[in-house]
Amino acid sequence: MDGLTTGTLPDSAAVEGGELVVGGVAASTLAERFGTPLVVYCEETLLAAARAYREAAPNALLLYSVKAFPNVELLRLLAAEGYGADVSTLGELAYARAAGIPGERIVVHGNNKSDEELRAAAEAGARFVVLDALDEIERAAAAAVRSTLVRVTPGIEADTHPAIRTAHHGSKFGLPPDQALEAIRRARDAGLEVAGLHLHIGSQLLGVDAARASIDWLGAFAADCRAELGWEPEIVDLGGGLGIQYVEGERPPTIVDFVTTLLGRLGHAWALHGLEQPSVILEPGRSLVGHAGLTLYRVGVVKQATETTTFVAVDGGMSDNPRPQLYGARYEALLANRPDEEPAGSYTVCGKHCESGDVLIESVRLPEPRRGDLLAVPATGAYTLSLASNYNAVPRPAAVLVADGKARLIRRRETLDDLLALEARAT
Ligand SMILES: Cc1ncc(COP(=O)(O)O)c(C=O)c1O
Repeated sequence: MDGLTTGTLPDSAAVEGGELVVGGVAASTLAERFGTPLVVYCEETLLAAARAYREAAPNALLLYSVKAFPNVELLRLLAAEGYGADVSTLGELAYARAAGIPGERIVVHGNNKSDEELRAAAEAGARFVVLDALDEIERAAAAAVRSTLVRVTPGIEADTHPAIRTAHHGSKFGLPPDQALEAIRRARDAGLEVAGLHLHIGSQLLGVDAARASIDWLGAFAADCRAELGWEPEIVDLGGGLGIQYVEGERPPTIVDFVTTLLGRLGHAWALHGLEQPSVILEPGRSLVGHAGLTLYRVGVVKQATETTTFVAVDGGMSDNPRPQLYGARYEALLANRPDEEPAGSYTVCGKHCESGDVLIESVRLPEPRRGDLLAVPATGAYTLSLASNYNAVPRPAAVLVADGKARLIRRRETLDDLLALEARAT
């Protein structure tokens, strides 16, 4: 499997009979049975990540951040591991409820919650609504929301793509410290319970430094809350953020190291300020499902455009994975039907969409690609299908879960009829 770093493929990936096998199921079988593009989730990898969080934080409330990939079956699997859900829209709440997640394990986010969303949170008995704006306070009280956290923005620049940085000065998320203090005071005056604070500094973090600094900051802020309001947080929700390896050279901390470091720092910061140790909530998304997923594409046109650029066009692209266009995201790939063949050169993997920017991978070493080959792109379990579109009226792909030699559909492929059903048509 030249050109591929170990650590990007799901845990169960292997080469058997000259082809890539995931969860005991051959890539060619998956492609024939379910079609392509297809997002394949490995149950073993998902559960290993879920259990690593549990091992590192046995007493925390663990929530799957549904935005990474809203899917009822994955939510059910995670619920069986004791996970709840972090949701930020009515739609994400609907997924959590459809998976049977009880309200006491649901936390509701959003920087612009509608009254309808606040009422739905209250009706679902959500454990906490995370206040993100001063104007939310009266609306949350009117919606009969009971318990809240206040999201605070420390002004820390996480070392990640600007689009997924969320706690810098000027962020649209959360409240800067003076407004957060004001929110706690006003929310309590309005009869809301304010149980604690929330912080999420960004996603795809490949180190712990910014997270550590933000926890130190939070400890000092909690001490300010005590001094100014006579209130201190019983709950601290540290959000998500741990990154995964997409390409060679990226070395994210392990889940256990990341969480152990954060919890250790929290204990230290709270002790430093003489605060009561709080209960903790964690909201991982990418680091739970990112590695578990891999996308299978069928290779179509192979075209030499210049002496140095040969395009390998696949049957999807920016509609099923817009991360390269959004964040300059990089991926590795392999030919799933010939993973052990020697590479013949470097190729540019493009999609089938009507934009020159529809490039999935700028350069990847592959055996000579041919029409009909299966291309596997690892680490596509998070923020791919959830960011997918119908650009060029392309139906969105199916997703399957594989384990123990079996595959089951967890999201069906969209059809042209699904797309046309949205159209207003004269009868
Ligand atoms: C409030 C909140 N919690 C959790 C997450 C999940 O982050 P990640 O997928 O990086 O773990 C996000 C993602 O942006 C978020 O905004």
